[in-house]
Amino acid sequence: MQNWKSSRRILLGITGGIAAYKIPSLVRLITRAKSEVEVIMTRSAGNFVAPMTLGALAGKSVWTDEGFDHTIPHVRLSGWGEVFVVAPCSANTLAKIAHGIADNLLTSAVLAASCPVLLFPAMNDRMYSNPAVQENIETLKRRGILVVEAESGALACGDSGRGRMPEPSEILHETFRALCPVHDMRGKRVLVTAGPTHEYIDPVRYISNPSSGKMGVAMARSAWYRGAEVRVIAGPVEVDAYGLGVVRVVSAQEMLEAVRANLGWADYVVKAAAVGDYRVKDYSPQKLKREGRDTLTLELVQNPDIAAEVGRLKREGQVLIGFAAETQDTAAHAREKLARKNLDYVLANDVLASGSGFAVDTNTLRLIPADNRKPERVFTGLKEDIAFEIWGDVLHS
Ligand SMILES: Cc1cc2nc3c(=O)[nH]c(=O)nc-3n(C[C@H](O)[C@H](O)[C@H](O)COP(=O)(O)O)c2cc1C
Repeated sequence: MQNWKSSRRILLGITGGIAAYKIPSLVRLITRAKSEVEVIMTRSAGNFVAPMTLGALAGKSVWTDEGFDHTIPHVRLSGWGEVFVVAPCSANTLAKIAHGIADNLLTSAVLAASCPVLLFPAMNDRMYSNPAVQENIETLKRRGILVVEAESGALACGDSGRGRMPEPSEILHETFRALCPVHDMRGKRVLVTAGPTHEYIDPVRYISNPSSGKMGVAMARSAWYRGAEVRVIAGPVEVDAYGLGVVRVVSAQEMLEAVRANLGWADYVVKAAAVGDYRVKDYSPQKLKREGRDTLTLELVQNPDIAAEVGRLKREGQVLIGFAAETQDTAAHAREKLARKNLDYVLANDVLASGSGFAVDTNTLRLIPADNRKPERVFTGLKEDIAFEIWGDVLHS
């Protein structure tokens, strides 16, 4: 399956801001993601990060005003790039771009660009809130330039406030969002549940399963790349949360409450969490001791069935997508679940098949639509790749 994120051509402009110290890590992430990068630096950027470092990481010389000559690099480079990222974007360069000033290689290349331009303004919070900077941001947004607004937090100058550049991994997510071949989920709202639940027996022990949340997060991330607004209700697993509006829960009961609170908001609901079917009937508020007990019997009671509840509350036009993790008769069990839980689609997952299921990066899933005029399809590959393909089917078949 072709990965749309590899072999992309990323033009990266760097200006004179303190946050430039993070950009070598970004270049490393880009090359690791198997994309190509051309780096253009302003004269001032060279005071903050060495061209040699960036060149070594990019595997090629970086572009500076020294090379702004008869070979017309600003036109060639801007024609080459599929996206033009400026990070950090200084107040000075932001103003130049807003006013069409092209007095160096970077700003000339921005002016010549026909690909999406993505700016990451980063500066001291008082500079950032200055009306001149804010008006420049508004002007650029109005013209269709993508401006990722600075974050709030501790600033390198010692102040705290709005002006922080996002982390390199977050810049890369935004870059791929701009590069995504389709933005057919703009204006759509997607709610995803992901990961396991922990059903506590006592304060230090719980019943759970090996779900990593990777498939759910892949569905969420793909929808976000395609332009959707996304919320993820995640059990206790690590989630690369940028842009995904993550709500943290622990138990099935908490997950149900979070789903209920967000259900009315969503156009699409993806139920990828591996929710515990049972919890202990009597939770022990003190740690259970082994002394004096050769065996321990726990009485379990059923947890609420979140997918069935979502199916019951489904509103007109809402699309519900469930997962059926099975170990035998996978497709038959999945079809039964599709009908019983009022789903529009079920993804049948044989978790015993090799390279499939919990805690691995790959999966094999059969997409079964409730509408039997639509085709069933089997997807195999990296979870992030198949998530992208699944959305294509759900939206267009
Ligand atoms: C130590 C130091 C840190 C600076 N940090 C920032 C910054 O974070 N953001 C910013 O917009 N300008 C910052 N500046 C000001 C810019 O470096 C200055 O406006 C420069 O002319 C920008 O040039 P350029 O836009 O061509 O890269 C800083 C200046 C100094 C001396």
